[in-house]
Amino acid sequence: MIAPSVLSFDHSDLATPVKELLNAGAGVIHLDVMDGQFVPPITIGDGVAKGLRRLGDFTLEAHLMTLTPEAHFEAFAKAGCNRIIFHSEATSHAHRLTQTLHSMGVQAGVAVNPATPVAMVEEIVDILDEVLVMTVNPGWGGQTFISEALHKVKRLRSLRSDLIIEVDGGIDEKTLPVAREAGANLFVVGSRLANGKSIAEAYNTLAALCG
Ligand code: DX5
Ligand code: ZN
Repeated sequence: MIAPSVLSFDHSDLATPVKELLNAGAGVIHLDVMDGQFVPPITIGDGVAKGLRRLGDFTLEAHLMTLTPEAHFEAFAKAGCNRIIFHSEATSHAHRLTQTLHSMGVQAGVAVNPATPVAMVEEIVDILDEVLVMTVNPGWGGQTFISEALHKVKRLRSLRSDLIIEVDGGIDEKTLPVAREAGANLFVVGSRLANGKSIAEAYNTLAALCG
């Protein structure tokens, strides 16, 4: 499936593109939450999640690019996020944080930066709902896909056939099939949706490649 990221849209009007994506058939919306500490930019908070939640029945996932991610779990869960993804580099306690999310009734995902090995999540792969493999360095949309990250997707897929393996960064018509071949089954798409002829056209083109 495609997980459209709203990062590259006009932040003063995120409802318009999200409605268009939902009408086009999107079942997941990906929120890139940056705190100006874990990564340099500051983006959106739980208020935006709450507003977008009202637009329909879809999986709302928050990708927390923040320090102390657990400090934000409750706010994003209360805002209606179905899945919360925190970075393995931002905590020494990924197991406990996964348990915390599950106790809130929220799916748990752990993200790994390009420089982070799969070993960082291997011991908890059985209790996770998702692993997000960053295929760019987090912080900005529109960067070039780092294909070296794909061996981590392959390794994760060999560990668990039913895991959600999400790839994030630089996904377009060329890179999506390569990531899919490696074993990814959820594809974050940001700038490619904002830069196409229309959002729906770009969404449909990429969704067709998911199989
Ligand atoms: C990067 C974010 C991504 C970003 C992807 O830090 O995690 O979700 O929006 O954007 P594109 O698709 O433009 O690489
Ligand atoms: Zn993201």
